[in-house]
Amino acid sequence: MQTQIVQTNLELIQGDITKAHVDAIVNAANNALVGGGGVDGAIRRAGGDVIENACAEIRSREGGCPTGKAVITTAGNLHAKYVIHTVGPVWEGGNSGEAELLASCYQESLQLAVENGVQSIAFPSISTGIYGYPTEKAALVALTAVKDFSEQSSAAPASVQFVLFDDATYTCYEDALRTLNL
Ligand code: APR
Repeated sequence: MQTQIVQTNLELIQGDITKAHVDAIVNAANNALVGGGGVDGAIRRAGGDVIENACAEIRSREGGCPTGKAVITTAGNLHAKYVIHTVGPVWEGGNSGEAELLASCYQESLQLAVENGVQSIAFPSISTGIYGYPTEKAALVALTAVKDFSEQSSAAPASVQFVLFDDATYTCYEDALRTLNL
């Protein structure tokens, strides 16, 4: 399923993000930028040690990555040139700024993409696995954030993909795209 927002082609794909042929893959990381499970583990396994080494350097220089922010590293053995690591909020019921922090993950990742000349980028569904954010809610936040960025930035990437691992997550994003009239 795909749609056009200003100059950005927005596409929903079901699959494994480590296989994406894009300039940058986004990782759902943690504050310490240490290897985890979920999509983080998959990206690090496929990309190789060079990703962990780059994360270790950022960790020693900046202490990691705050929630809602993003950092960029090389992508090692992946098809992509870069991995953009962003840290989503842990779901605490919805009244702890989760939506704003989640939107910020997408916006900060897209901003880093623009600064690094990235023309195509693939996102997973940030925060909806181990961090427990309800997927129907997260999908609306994610797609709105990408739409807002594409409308506001003339340098927005030409291609934004959401690579969604399972059926249920894909369906939530499809529903959200319809709800938002995109
Ligand atoms: N490709 C695409 N999506 C994937 C893949 C993959 N290879 N593997 C898992 N996913 C999906 C999950 O099914 C979920 O829908 O990514 C989404 C996000 O789930 P998590 O990876 O658990 O991310 P998150 O909820 O943001 O939790 C982050 O998990 O791995 C740790 O270090 C990470 O501590 C951090 C936390």
